Amino acid sequence: MASTTTKQAPAWQREGLVLPDALGPRTWDQLIEESVQLREAATVSGFTQTASHRDGSFCTPSQYLSTQGGPVLTAVLRNMDLLGLVREASGRPRLIPVRCGYNYYRLGDFMGLHRDSVKATITFTFALTEGLPPMGWAPQLCEASSDELAALVASQGLYPAGHPVREVPFRQLSAFDGYNIPHWRPPLTQADQQGVIGTFCYFDL
Ligand SMILES: [Fe+2]
Repeated sequence: MASTTTKQAPAWQREGLVLPDALGPRTWDQLIEESVQLREAATVSGFTQTASHRDGSFCTPSQYLSTQGGPVLTAVLRNMDLLGLVREASGRPRLIPVRCGYNYYRLGDFMGLHRDSVKATITFTFALTEGLPPMGWAPQLCEASSDELAALVASQGLYPAGHPVREVPFRQLSAFDGYNIPHWRPPLTQADQQGVIGTFCYFDL
């Protein structure tokens, strides 16, 4: 795509989407409870290599625990009111729910620069523990090719400097264009609290 397309991209694609009151306090309590219950079922996720995939996604090494969402998160994923809200906010009336899960970051866990699968037209993330550091993201690289991203990682590493951070708020929904915008999470250090993140995505049919 030409750079002029970037300038015309909707605000949600450039800046992300925040949905401050989309879920009530009881739902947040239940999500936290479910994430704790499912922690034991979580398995090590991640990659050990840099790879470009045919769907346009791109990955570099990562390491964390993950598990699919339970009934509470699945109900959020399939909530028609929320879906309607996001369809309207994004101008994408054909969005459909795809999948959901919890990610558990322990000391040293990380997610190198990557782009989500083609089914993640809109990626939602939310913190279920307090104190999790922000992630890094590079909206200005939304049109970079996978080769360009591989070159960037080769020269600067998995967490390239000089890019903005993106807060993942505690008990608040926010979303971004996970398929096009490269994003990453540097390793958790001892100064950080170990963290739990919920995530789900919608796909534009
Ligand atoms: Fe991602």
